[in-house]
Amino acid sequence: MIHKEDIDKIFEAARVEEVVADYVSLKKRGANLIGCCPFHNEKTPSFYVSPAKGIYKCFGCGKGGHAINFIMEHDKLTYPDALRYLAKKYNIEITEEEQTPEQVQFQNDRESLLVVSSFAQKHFSENLYNTDEGKSIGLGYFKERGLREDIIQKFQLGYSINQRTAFTDIAIATGYKTEYLVKAGLTIEFKNEPETNPEESEIPVKAAETRYIDRFSGRVMFPIQNQSGRVIAFGGRTLRSDKKVAKYVNSPETEIYHKSDVLYGLFQSKNAIQKEKFCFLVEGYMDVIAMHQAGVENVVASSGTALTAGQIKLIQRFTNDIIISYDGDQAGINAALKGIDLLLEEGMNVKVLLFPDGDDPDSYSKKVSTQELKDFIVTNAQNFISYKASILTKGTNNDPLRKAEAIKKIVESIALIPDAIYRSVYVKECSRIMDVDEQILLSELNKIRNKNFNDKRNQHLTPSEGEGADAASHLESFVEKKEHTIADAEHQEREIIRLLINYGGSLIKIDSENESGEPIEVDVSVAYVIIQELKNDTIILENLLYNTAYNEFVEHLEKDAIPDINYFINHENSALSSLTIDLISEPYFLSNWEQHGIYPPKEIDILKHSAYKAIYTLKCRKLEMMIYNIQKRIKDNPPEEELMTLLQTNISLQNAYKVFNNILGRIIVK
Ligand code: CTP
Ligand code: MN
Repeated sequence: MIHKEDIDKIFEAARVEEVVADYVSLKKRGANLIGCCPFHNEKTPSFYVSPAKGIYKCFGCGKGGHAINFIMEHDKLTYPDALRYLAKKYNIEITEEEQTPEQVQFQNDRESLLVVSSFAQKHFSENLYNTDEGKSIGLGYFKERGLREDIIQKFQLGYSINQRTAFTDIAIATGYKTEYLVKAGLTIEFKNEPETNPEESEIPVKAAETRYIDRFSGRVMFPIQNQSGRVIAFGGRTLRSDKKVAKYVNSPETEIYHKSDVLYGLFQSKNAIQKEKFCFLVEGYMDVIAMHQAGVENVVASSGTALTAGQIKLIQRFTNDIIISYDGDQAGINAALKGIDLLLEEGMNVKVLLFPDGDDPDSYSKKVSTQELKDFIVTNAQNFISYKASILTKGTNNDPLRKAEAIKKIVESIALIPDAIYRSVYVKECSRIMDVDEQILLSELNKIRNKNFNDKRNQHLTPSEGEGADAASHLESFVEKKEHTIADAEHQEREIIRLLINYGGSLIKIDSENESGEPIEVDVSVAYVIIQELKNDTIILENLLYNTAYNEFVEHLEKDAIPDINYFINHENSALSSLTIDLISEPYFLSNWEQHGIYPPKEIDILKHSAYKAIYTLKCRKLEMMIYNIQKRIKDNPPEEELMTLLQTNISLQNAYKVFNNILGRIIVK
């Protein structure tokens, strides 16, 4: 358990805009900041951060919360882990109370892996400068490849000494547990079977033993960082030209490193991607680093894996425009072709850049100036159609069959594009480049899309669910919904809670009498008025969550206290906390109105009006519901004596309804 005071300190320090900005690039919009939501795909920003309220909220997918929620949601951390992460970010020391062994375990695992990885990075970097071997071999290699000092530092490059246990030994001597070295992928565990004597097989000659060996010994090290810059994994390049040795060894999947959701260089490149409005995707670590050195900083690599949808989503937080540039060998071409299709499917605008004869981004960037490199990229990036066309028709000597095949393959890619307008633009382009009739391409395109659609649907539907079943269940839920709108007071109850949470403690003037019965005005809190009014008519909130929130106010009022917004934002009941976030977020178009000189009355100035309106709207709604139920029962032909009471109740409810409705009418026109 983290101490309450420490939690308060973290809440105080963690500015939501700073925490979010580690992951999302934000722009100022009035008092708020807006950006593209990291939790769903979007092209136009609907995610906003309010520094004043300390919250973020996405109007696209509905996610919202405070700084801690953001970290929990984004990094998939538990509440305490998110607190620990932020404590670290803001240098807040926390004292923790006794935890259960499971809690300790869980927290330790992730954090320990991060700590051990960070230690390893520092150790490998120090090797470069403080050991003879590191200086001559490691640093020598980087210098030979033309890397500047500042770039070596920027990418935290390092060297792992060429002895089987050099790193592991030092890490253990420094106090790191073998368990975490292994879990972080830095150390490999080998278990030797016990050796036995063939004659007396019961007696082992040599006991079973476990050995621990460095994964990366004798390699130059490329640390891989997550989006907040913490080291989560490594790539290690061998310096031997021996073909039997893998050129690169990468960390395995670990609790902190999920390859398909990480892009090499994103931490160093995200600002430039945002600024340049496009992202450059290359194959290797060295390509990313060399481009940075050459002054092109909007570069990432999907090192160690084929490009994945998860990685594309990372890029889409910043831009939808991508230029891919892979090596010109067969492996590079295949990877590019696969990547193009995946990128198109995810709705990205894809271009391809080829470097002249055998150059890759690394080598080419070293031959030209920054401006020449930038110009080269802009003028030579080709759309994916001409790229595919040139690849697929290369060396075919205009063989008509090969050309037809190429056209089909191009149309297959176009068919993946989700947006119809883009599709039609590319069909035109393909018609032009390949010199085929547009209509023929369109009909081929439709055929492919229909097939893709059917394939997808068959994947999703189990055999028993035909279209009929779908329609029926749809109708069912519609009927249910209709019933629901008459049968509940969800909206009205929500409005009550919204007012309580936002303004519960605010004072409004109500009419009262003094001891001698003369009329006077007194100041009372909104919470007091609402609770008294609802109590008078024994109104209970049916929605469980709203009822929980409401009871918080009832209980606090009994002690003459009124909980404030922060109490609810930080509430341990996370449903209550996120409800609060929703209720205090006003859509940002409100501030746009103000930009246009329209000033709607501020709610705080018309609180009395809002409170009574909400109270009487709820009362009327509850009466409508009661009347509706009574009338339904009357239609059911109930027994005679029940019918009599039902009719009487109906009349008195109708009368009460008239009274309340009149009051409401007067409130509304005021
Ligand atoms: N790669 C890998 N394992 C290998 C070979 C390659 O994980 N055995 C990954 C690395 O991320 C590498 C990328 O694929 O950076 C591209 O491979 P390659 O072009 O061979 O490496 P470069 O980055 O160009 O390395 P260098 O310039 O040092 O040859
Ligand atoms: Mn390469």
